[in-house]
Amino acid sequence: MSKEKNGLFTIFGGTGDLAKRKLYPSLYRLYKKGYLKEKFAVIGTARREWTDDFYREVVVESIQNITESHEHAIEFASHFYYQSHNVTDIEHYDTLKKLSEKLDKQYQLEGNRLFYLAMSPNFFGVISQNLKDRDLITTTGFNRLIIEKPFGQDFESALVLNNQIRASFEENQIYRIDHYLGKEMVQNISAIRFGNYMIESMWNSRYIDNIQITLGESLGVEERGGYYDTSGALRDMLQNHILQIISLLAMEPPTRLKDKEIRTEKIKALKAVRLLEPDEVSDYMIRGQYGPSHNDISKNLNGYREEMNVALDSQTETFVAGKIMIDNFRWTGVPFYFRTGKRLTKKGTQIDIEFKNVPLNLFDNNDEPLPANVLTIYIQPTEGFSLELNTKKIGLGLATETLQLEHKYSAETTANSLEAYEKLILDCLNGDSTNFTHWDEVATSWKFVDIIRNQWDKEKVDFPNYASGSMGPIDSEQLLIKDGFKWHWCPNKK
Ligand code: BG6
Repeated sequence: MSKEKNGLFTIFGGTGDLAKRKLYPSLYRLYKKGYLKEKFAVIGTARREWTDDFYREVVVESIQNITESHEHAIEFASHFYYQSHNVTDIEHYDTLKKLSEKLDKQYQLEGNRLFYLAMSPNFFGVISQNLKDRDLITTTGFNRLIIEKPFGQDFESALVLNNQIRASFEENQIYRIDHYLGKEMVQNISAIRFGNYMIESMWNSRYIDNIQITLGESLGVEERGGYYDTSGALRDMLQNHILQIISLLAMEPPTRLKDKEIRTEKIKALKAVRLLEPDEVSDYMIRGQYGPSHNDISKNLNGYREEMNVALDSQTETFVAGKIMIDNFRWTGVPFYFRTGKRLTKKGTQIDIEFKNVPLNLFDNNDEPLPANVLTIYIQPTEGFSLELNTKKIGLGLATETLQLEHKYSAETTANSLEAYEKLILDCLNGDSTNFTHWDEVATSWKFVDIIRNQWDKEKVDFPNYASGSMGPIDSEQLLIKDGFKWHWCPNKK
């Protein structure tokens, strides 16, 4: 069976950064691999007045590092059309409709349409409404709406947004992107759990002591200060990526690895996340904001408040760490710690699963307790797994040492694996919504996050409280220490 897909992509925000950095290269990779061939077309829209030729030049430039040849790039870009568009102007949708119908015939697209909203969420409602009212939604093929985050600023605004969109699209036509769900190693969580009975049978509070999730970034907010200052790490990372990872780690085994079954389990797991009482927030959640670098003056790193478009007295957090408890039979009593932040020591995402200690230490370790066994899932930039085990030290006596069994995928393998966006776009072409977030997941996550946000907004903090290049505020170490644990991954201590 041919793997070729067909469809018309209409990208709202076609001149934007996301389109250039992620969407065009991903579409090109799918083209190179034969998922897209002759029967696809792309309409890029934005307010600017661009010609098709200029647009195609931009597309070619965005893929210049991954092209087979210049001719191949030109051939690919010939499928791209530009339409200047004001999202609030009804007549513009009529022009868009005419162009869509023309391309539909020209490329034999059978009425299959993907509307990609790569722009401010303020316009999601009006765009989806006009797509329906002005008949851009076809009756012959599939119609799918792909939406970028942020999906609302809190539960209330997300609900309003969802209602607006749902007036034109059914839930099963809506693909809410969380690009973490497209990452190879995030998808591997299910494989390591459900493909290994040894692991899955120990995947519960009897054997696991705590789980630690780190999403560290070494960069600051760069030129995104304007957006970030109204968002902060809580909304930017916890509401979506981190809670999604937690739902995959915590969910019960689905009956099949299909979208409906997986979502059902993820939603159940998220609903079991314990909601904090307002007066518990400071015990469970730590926030931070980066200041200038202390130890690398030559790099001259600014503090967050000196970044472009950031208020000089900004109270926005660029770091958040926390402890999440899941009140169900499997996880009761097991803390899920997480931390994420900008300008940390190193870019790296990993999950450390710390197993319980042996009930009695029989070895000769100078009264030191045996280190816990730790299973690590390396998500990025390294992709792989490791398992730390205690074994006998070679030689006399019965002392132990910790060995690390490790598999890291080679740079070649990871370079050839599908990129997150590439996978997600292909899933969407296939109508597979497994790796997209359902409204119930979004809603449940906001309800958890809103409690923290509301509490934090009431209390002024003394920022900045961590130096660029560190692993965040000292309080995030204390969060674990007071429970008798410590962060397993300490890139700042090597
Ligand atoms: C995005 C956030 O969702 O994820 C960014 O808005 C963050 O602030 C990014 O930098 C991190 O993604 P990745 O794939 O680089 O870990």
